[in-house]
Amino acid sequence: MLPLHDKIVAITGASGGIGEATARLLAERGAAVVLAARRGERIDAVAQDIRKEGGRALACVVDVTKADDLRRLVSTTVDRYGRIDVLLNNAGIAPISPLADLDTDGWSAMIDVNLRGMLNGVAAVLPVFREQGAGHLVSIVSVAGLTVSPSMAVYAATKNAVRTVHEGLRTESTDGVVRTTAISPGYIRTDLADSMGDPQLRERTREYMDAMGIPPAAVARAVAFAIEQPHDVEIGEINIRPTAQA
Ligand SMILES: NC(=O)c1ccc[n+]([C@@H]2O[C@H](COP(=O)([O-])OP(=O)(O)OC[C@H]3O[C@@H](n4cnc5c(N)ncnc54)[C@H](OP(=O)(O)O)[C@@H]3O)[C@@H](O)[C@H]2O)c1
Repeated sequence: MLPLHDKIVAITGASGGIGEATARLLAERGAAVVLAARRGERIDAVAQDIRKEGGRALACVVDVTKADDLRRLVSTTVDRYGRIDVLLNNAGIAPISPLADLDTDGWSAMIDVNLRGMLNGVAAVLPVFREQGAGHLVSIVSVAGLTVSPSMAVYAATKNAVRTVHEGLRTESTDGVVRTTAISPGYIRTDLADSMGDPQLRERTREYMDAMGIPPAAVARAVAFAIEQPHDVEIGEINIRPTAQA
């Protein structure tokens, strides 16, 4: 029997990078996965690929800034598979810049996707977790929130806000119903730099990612570790960086 055969997992930001790698790994280990993102053709292709390999996967077009989309993701998952065990809140963007640039559109976009997107997920899934008597919220945060580097202030703020909501949810969940896990990656080789508007910062980040970034599957393994624990064991936080990252 595969280790995650009894897990139903919905994943936001599953059209590439960490989300796609996690969907593939969890499906390999037996979980049913529902892939969510805005680019429907990409999540359709990944879901099809997973099914071809014998896995269980479904695609659902979702913009995490829209509360209704998250509600639809949760209801689609429950309609298709009977329940939802894990919501992986992974969708994120990083249009970073120095505060002095006053890129208020970039700030708003990060708040809307990274923080509001997570809260939309919480609002959609929490009542279902409570009704089921069990559920697990996993969020991809960032080590950028642990040490704040220049140009990263607002990105780090959104990630630390997500970390804070996790801690709040954890302290409100001592009845043992909801587990929470916040996973903080360092440099992971993905397309995240594409969301950076500043060409210099984008190039520098791509260079760092190429030079020392580790594959997204490294984060996927951390997600699998957290969710395969028995329900009375909560893995609260995991930091996962390239060994060479300062
Ligand atoms: N790569 C790193 O070094 C690193 C380090 C620390 C933390 N992280 C975090 O890891 C998470 C995944 O990023 P990644 O590195 O895998 O980057 P990525 O390859 O750019 O993936 C980002 C994902 O987020 C989705 N997304 C963006 N806006 C969305 C929206 N409004 N609604 C729904 N989905 C949306 C994208 O899908 P669509 O465009 O199709 O919607 C895509 O699937 C992010 O939260 C990021 O902050 C990454």
